[in-house]
Amino acid sequence: MKEKILEYLFNHQEEFTSGEFLRKKFNVSRTAIWKHIKTLKEEGYQIKSVSNKGYQLQIEGDQFISYDLEKLLGKKVEVFQSIDSTNDYLKRGFRDFPDKMMVLSEEQKKGRGRLGREWYSPKGAGLFCSILLKPEITMQESFKITGIAAAAVAEAIAEATELPAKIKWPNDIVVNGKKVCGILTEVSGEMDGINYIIVGIGINVNTPGFSEELKDRATSLYLEKGEKVFRKDLFITLAKKFFKFYDEFVEKKSLEEVLNLLKSRSAILGKEIIVIRGEEKKQGTALSITEEGFLKVRYNTGEEEVLSSGEISVRGREGYL
Ligand code: BTN
Repeated sequence: MKEKILEYLFNHQEEFTSGEFLRKKFNVSRTAIWKHIKTLKEEGYQIKSVSNKGYQLQIEGDQFISYDLEKLLGKKVEVFQSIDSTNDYLKRGFRDFPDKMMVLSEEQKKGRGRLGREWYSPKGAGLFCSILLKPEITMQESFKITGIAAAAVAEAIAEATELPAKIKWPNDIVVNGKKVCGILTEVSGEMDGINYIIVGIGINVNTPGFSEELKDRATSLYLEKGEKVFRKDLFITLAKKFFKFYDEFVEKKSLEEVLNLLKSRSAILGKEIIVIRGEEKKQGTALSITEEGFLKVRYNTGEEEVLSSGEISVRGREGYL
């Protein structure tokens, strides 16, 4: 019912809709209408109430509205004003949530990065989203999902902003040598299959600045472009690209477009890198992206290795790539 009221107000934003009209249309009491409007307001929707006129949904320029996004993408999209972490939300409820559901939040109180780091998630400035996937694939195949997400994010950023977005394998997107996006993929499964894959994507979209500690390594699309970027368009482009690549992979086992992007948009191929695995650091060169979407490295010792997973960090010899 709440969703139906929101849908009606969304499609009639130019006018006020009276409580009496909604009561008759949905055949419920005035109190029920009032309660649903109150809940919608609590969820962050700005609904103006004027006595004798009724209700009007007011959408600010760059606000995420779940009904709007669901209509455009054909998938379940939940939007929060504030949350601990969008990845944790999906983790808690994955059994009951549908495959391919997405969650967005205006801010995260406990945004998480890789290797137990915190992910800076200030209100309204970023794109903090997670995607729940329940595919019938093997654990080994699930490692390719981060590559799919990285390719989709880099392409979406380039399309929405015309900035030169590059992929720092396996899960960062950089613009002009600084990080604008991190991807945190979390997989739960047994030998015989996957329970869930949660792909968390954090993009610094309109972040006005960063702390002393972060500012040499992190930037935002706003800082690089010199103007604000419309988050809704970026999200729609990103989600469409992600699901195009993902469906091709799950249904046809094809990674062709993704591999081409992982190569053509790579920030590290041919460069001197340092591979960090726990305490161990090894210097080498990033040689190529394999048919699996993994990174082939030649160490200075002459030894070669194919890296598949994300417990590895890659740094440029000169610092951040
Ligand atoms: C990293 O670079 O370390 C990965 C950062 C991932 C951040 C995103 S923001 C949305 C989702 N929710 C989280 O708590 N983390 C991911």
